Amino acid sequence: MTPTELIGPPSPLGYPAPYWFLVTFKVLGFTLHMVPMHLWFVGILLAMIFAQRGDVHAQRWSARLMRQMPVIIALGINFGIVPLLFTQVAYYRVFYPATILMAWPWFLIIMFLTFAYYGVYIYVTGLKDGAKLTTLKRAAGWVSAILFVAISFLFSNGFSLMTHLSAWPELWQETSVAGAPLGTGLNTSDPTLWPRWLMMFGLALTTVAAYTVFDAGVFARRESPEYRRWAANFALKFYTVGLIWFAVMGSWYLSTWPADARDQMLSSPLIILTALAALGPGLPWLLIFFQRRQITQALAILTGLAQFGVLALNAISRQIVQNIELGKFLDVTAEPVNLQLSPLIVFLVLFVAGLGVVVWMVGKVWQAERQPA
Ligand code: HEM
Repeated sequence: MTPTELIGPPSPLGYPAPYWFLVTFKVLGFTLHMVPMHLWFVGILLAMIFAQRGDVHAQRWSARLMRQMPVIIALGINFGIVPLLFTQVAYYRVFYPATILMAWPWFLIIMFLTFAYYGVYIYVTGLKDGAKLTTLKRAAGWVSAILFVAISFLFSNGFSLMTHLSAWPELWQETSVAGAPLGTGLNTSDPTLWPRWLMMFGLALTTVAAYTVFDAGVFARRESPEYRRWAANFALKFYTVGLIWFAVMGSWYLSTWPADARDQMLSSPLIILTALAALGPGLPWLLIFFQRRQITQALAILTGLAQFGVLALNAISRQIVQNIELGKFLDVTAEPVNLQLSPLIVFLVLFVAGLGVVVWMVGKVWQAERQPA
């Protein structure tokens, strides 16, 4: 059995839009997904530690983030749907076989996410003025934190298995009965899995630090100057840790890439993109460094934008690596296009309207924070 025999057959319908359109929205959607996803991936874990062991400012940070978390999760899930749709449209021939091989862990994500989301709500009810964080509510917060980390691991499994075609025949044979896959596989035999997941964790550390500055400079107008000073100091230290973590795990990840992906990403012209993706976090770090004594609104917004740029660079490079890895078996750009204009226009209108609503909501929060307490 060869991996190509397990790839899904091409759809007679073809792509409903040109490949460049599908991949642009896949990458943009993933970049938008990463911002809130990083905040719950690392942020909730840290919020739980700070709530229990932090000083007064760390506890304040924890309560601020957790109060915002229900909205952050809602945004992150909706933004996640965008790349999921485009993955299903443009990469269906490998996405579906991979997620069939690991169907049960993949399905588990819905269950984990439901419990994690409820857990956050239960925790947040303990943060209402006058309410007390009972042991049950604390436990709900911890369960959510752990479930989010578990979900992230399952996502890394799913998307790395999607391009690790050489492992499919063995995985299928190990986890099938009379040819029918049981769907109990995971991509743990893939050397890229752990560094890839840990690199994402490192990137999430930096996003949490950048968001701390953004929140302190834009939303936390009513917080004390001491809190804002603490936030500046904490963000600088945390971003530095994230930067080192990202560099170490990123180098490990790069060393596990297939030789052709490494060759292409490390030679001209893609080396420029690889270098930008690797060095990119230096810019938000510098901006945070300039604000170590005082966070200003303009620089805080710039820090947020710079971090968004870092995530976008990462999403673009990862997309190119994904295509190189698949290139041995499948050319995703070669599918015939059968343009479906009306759903495309509906999507674009709803996407822009949706983003408009998000910007409007953030503006409202910003205005509310400026009102006297
Ligand atoms: C229903 C909600 C969610 C949807 C629809 C969703 C969708 C996606 C999609 C489509 C990707 C891959 C994007 C691409 O390769 O272009 C992705 C990646 C990822 N997601 Fe989400 N996501 C959701 C919730 C979560 C949650 C709760 C977590 C937990 C932390 C999470 C963590 C991740 C991670 C770590 C990756 C990167 C995986 C890798 O490639 O190594 N996502 N998500």
